[in-house]
Amino acid sequence: MLITFEGIEGSGKSTQANLLSEFLSGKGYEVTVTREPGWGHLGNLIRTIILDERKLALTPMAELFLFCADRAQHVKDFIEPRLKNGEIVICDRFYDSTIVYQGYGRKLDMRLVNKAAKASALDVTPDLTFLLNLPVREGLTRLKERGSITKMDEEPHEFHELIRQGYILIARREPERIKSINADREIPAVHEEICSLVTERLSPQ
Ligand code: TMP
Repeated sequence: MLITFEGIEGSGKSTQANLLSEFLSGKGYEVTVTREPGWGHLGNLIRTIILDERKLALTPMAELFLFCADRAQHVKDFIEPRLKNGEIVICDRFYDSTIVYQGYGRKLDMRLVNKAAKASALDVTPDLTFLLNLPVREGLTRLKERGSITKMDEEPHEFHELIRQGYILIARREPERIKSINADREIPAVHEEICSLVTERLSPQ
């Protein structure tokens, strides 16, 4: 089973991904947490190029294909073998990030972005996706408190607003897979809701 976490910066994805992993391990499942971009050697290089290299003015199209290259390698070498082995993989961002950031955010042709994003996942589709939804202002405040700022985080407020709205739209289109969670709450309350949705999915009636 592949479970992905999505949301704007500062929405608490990695915290919730790790808490869910602990919960599932406690129930005896074989589970791993990973993230995009940034898995493995290629992923680390790509992450640095896209998010840290301030001298590089990447074009939106170049950015799109770098995120997709990261995913293609990640899926083939890490995610797919684990899924085939019956394990649970929790991924902090997946192809919905490409659709939302490069499609709605960078305004690249949506058909191309959709195609590239899904092709890079090699036909692997998340079984369950949690959209951690919270106001942009709140997310950016949390980010500042955390202190690690990437190039993407420095985009203007309007860009982050487009991202938030893009996520809301895709969640409406796929309500079975994408569960929108109110992330403007304390960590344990968000965690509890996520655990109950995962439990429901793991043991269907
Ligand atoms: P994060 O790992 O700290 O969330 O940073 C990843 C950044 O990269 C975040 O701003 C979202 C962005 N991103 C895209 O624009 N497209 C993608 O396909 C992915 C995976 C991430």
